[in-house]
Amino acid sequence: MLARTALRAATKPGALTATLRFASTFSAAATEAMNPHGIEISKAQRVAKDGFISAIGNTPLIKLKQLSKETGCEVLGKAEFQNPGGSVKDRAALYVIQDAEERGLLHPGGTVVEGTAGNTGIGLAHVCRSKGYKLVIYMPDTQSQGKIDLLRLLGAEVFPVPAVAYENPQNYNHQAMRHAEQTENAVWTNQFDNTANRRAHIETTGPEIWAQTEGKIDAFTCASGTAGTIAGVTRYLKTVSEGRVKCYVADPPGSIIYTHVSTHGKTVERKGSSITEGIGQGRITENLKPDLDLLDGALHIADEKSIEMVYRCLDEEGLYLGASSCLNVVAAKEVAEKLGPGHTVVTILCDGAYRYADRLFSRKWLESKNLLDAIPGHLKKYIVLQ
Ligand SMILES: Cc1ncc(COP(=O)(O)O)c(C=O)c1O
Repeated sequence: MLARTALRAATKPGALTATLRFASTFSAAATEAMNPHGIEISKAQRVAKDGFISAIGNTPLIKLKQLSKETGCEVLGKAEFQNPGGSVKDRAALYVIQDAEERGLLHPGGTVVEGTAGNTGIGLAHVCRSKGYKLVIYMPDTQSQGKIDLLRLLGAEVFPVPAVAYENPQNYNHQAMRHAEQTENAVWTNQFDNTANRRAHIETTGPEIWAQTEGKIDAFTCASGTAGTIAGVTRYLKTVSEGRVKCYVADPPGSIIYTHVSTHGKTVERKGSSITEGIGQGRITENLKPDLDLLDGALHIADEKSIEMVYRCLDEEGLYLGASSCLNVVAAKEVAEKLGPGHTVVTILCDGAYRYADRLFSRKWLESKNLLDAIPGHLKKYIVLQ
């Protein structure tokens, strides 16, 4: 009460400095309590003392208001686009590098090598600059010049190599592994099968979701790329809730996870392709293996639904999200409908739409993918690019 009065008095000329000095002796919780405007001071808003890496995580959990109203559930999205490198992959990037350091595979001035065309490369580039490591990225040469340029301007050395199947020794992942083997003080971080990736989500994302919902969570769903996120969060939530929280993997066309999970491994079907990036998988990675049996089911989400949700999230929630995030939101809506009103369902908002805008909001591109008709008439006004 005294604090509130003091802060109100600060609006009078001359009183501000004295009041701030007074307030600075208080903890974040006390400062928060005395703020008449009710600004919350979360851990994320304090000083990230170890620089970039300590700003990773502690992302907000955002209520998707319209979908919550429609389903009668609390539909919540973990705002991973607020990580300092812009995506959920900052967490995995930090953990695979820390793991290499802890295992004595990477020493000061060393080199990190990875095969990636997406967010993992961006996360690794930031973490490497922040920790003083070099970064070498191998990627298929079918990727856009924009992706190559972005990684180069973040300080990485990039090798675009012919796009060949995983079984071929010239596949970009194998080339990355060989590069690390042939370089002194270098490590191949191997995001798909390095379970330090999954551990990032067991130790950070899962506990954050549990704390933010105060344990009032009934279900979790998200898609799988490396599977670090779905596996790690599922493992944590199943453990802490003693199996109560239901966990569902969401899958785009062209991926085998949906049929694998829904037939308990009896059938593996790979049909079609998807506009989503960073998700979908042709095999069960080492990150997914230990937690596969914990999953309660799988959802197949068509691109038509994901792209519609890109536009809906923008229009209804003010959220500018990439297609994989919106596939996750569709999955959360479907899980909420399945469970019925009164439940809390959480999903992951992996990254923003910035890197994909030239496609997701282009009429020509939507037509080329046969997705123009998937955008409801009242949302077509957002198709602003030719
Ligand atoms: C945009 C995007 N969404 C989702 C994912 C999938 O996350 P995970 O690799 O943890 O399965 C990725 C992974 O690269 C991604 O880049």
